Amino acid sequence: MGLSPLQSIHMTEKDSIKVVDKVNDMQTLSNSVRKGGRIISFVPTMGALHEGHISLIRKAKEKGEFLIVSIFVNPTQFGLNEDYKKYSRDLEGDLKKIKEIGVDVVFLPDVNEIYPDGFETYVEVEELQKPLCGQFRPGHFKGVATIVLKLFNIVKPDIAIFGEKDYQQLIIIQKMVRDLHLEIEIIGLPIIREDDGLALSSRNAYLSKKERKHAKALSEALREITKSFDQGHNEVKDLIQRGRDILNKSLIYDIDYLEIRNGRTLESKEEAQSGDLVAVAAKVGNARLIDNMKL
Ligand code: PAF
Repeated sequence: MGLSPLQSIHMTEKDSIKVVDKVNDMQTLSNSVRKGGRIISFVPTMGALHEGHISLIRKAKEKGEFLIVSIFVNPTQFGLNEDYKKYSRDLEGDLKKIKEIGVDVVFLPDVNEIYPDGFETYVEVEELQKPLCGQFRPGHFKGVATIVLKLFNIVKPDIAIFGEKDYQQLIIIQKMVRDLHLEIEIIGLPIIREDDGLALSSRNAYLSKKERKHAKALSEALREITKSFDQGHNEVKDLIQRGRDILNKSLIYDIDYLEIRNGRTLESKEEAQSGDLVAVAAKVGNARLIDNMKL
């Protein structure tokens, strides 16, 4: 990176990784990278990085010429009784992983930098935010859309990469980008799973050994549904019951939803079709886990 036009940017080095923590500095740096004609790829995260995030960061490195990763646990996407305070944080571990991949800059703002006193402007993707997680986490997607738009305006990426595990989040962001004419390519990448099928998630860290064993039932339920659909069953009620039976066998009763919906519009349906989304959210111990598959 030619540093001369960037002398005024306050950048620190943590374990030889360049870290920017101020909005203005990040914008100045991104403007200068863009002026130099380089493609900025971006992976927004809330830290506690696992192999799922790593796959996004590696893809972003492949797709762009200047790679920025943000780490920011965004308070506005957590409800009052949710896990904002106890959400896994491991900055040292995160920076170590990031260093191994080789990222150009980590954007690491604190909460007051992003939400200064008097902040009052939010973005909502009105219909897509309503079903599935939106029903159980009021305000969650408003917080997500708002922080992602803010990060886009700060980091100014050409390409941004998200995981398909948060499928509803991904399509909400794609819709926001389309509706607001943002010139950013959004790429979604497949879920990374443990050997027994459990989708990787920062919240898996909350599981006890016993709960961890039960948690694999989430992906088993989804797989049972996709398998039954492949065998010719397409009545949604019946398919969902098959999935619920699997969850219940593993003592998972606290199910927010197990649903089949249109994979693009998230509309509910009675007859399943290829391309539909099967999505689940359930509590296993104290961890609220989500997972999904396509039919
Ligand atoms: O998926 C996440 O980790 C978060 O929702 C995101 C996109 C970084 C916004 O805070």
